[in-house]
Amino acid sequence: MCQECKELIDPKEEKLDGIIARFKHGKGALIPVLQEAQELYGYLPEHVIKRISRGLRIPIAKVYGVVTFYAQFRLAPMGRNVISVCLGTACHVRGGAKVLEAIEKTTKIKDGQTSADGQYTLEIVNCIGACGLAPVMSINGNVHGRLNPEQIPGILAEYK
Ligand code: FES
Repeated sequence: MCQECKELIDPKEEKLDGIIARFKHGKGALIPVLQEAQELYGYLPEHVIKRISRGLRIPIAKVYGVVTFYAQFRLAPMGRNVISVCLGTACHVRGGAKVLEAIEKTTKIKDGQTSADGQYTLEIVNCIGACGLAPVMSINGNVHGRLNPEQIPGILAEYK
């Protein structure tokens, strides 16, 4: 292959082909390939799903079926700030749902969504191991505890 052609090839695509080739002949290849592809791209863009479908010879509808069934797979890139709001038992009992409502209202997104400006991704989690601080959320791994809904706009503004 000439140098010009090499430069035209997306290095991530080469890696993706390597991932597909590694799992291609085994059983149950789809999920590990999707996991590694998501690690590589940060999410699963349409062209990646098509390439996986072709590479593993699995119908594209089936690949989409698996991607949409498992919460671990994302079809859109993550926002710059990932908000994980806890609705585990301790947080739920101490008003986690109201905190979630305030986050949804401030960011205008719901669980699993990313805001149109790419600023926030919201996810609901079950326990982040800080039950003593309930209700809690974490933003990019920073834990905010003993929350009340009124604090939410101010805290989120710190991450703009
Ligand atoms: S239940 Fe929310 S941190 Fe444990």
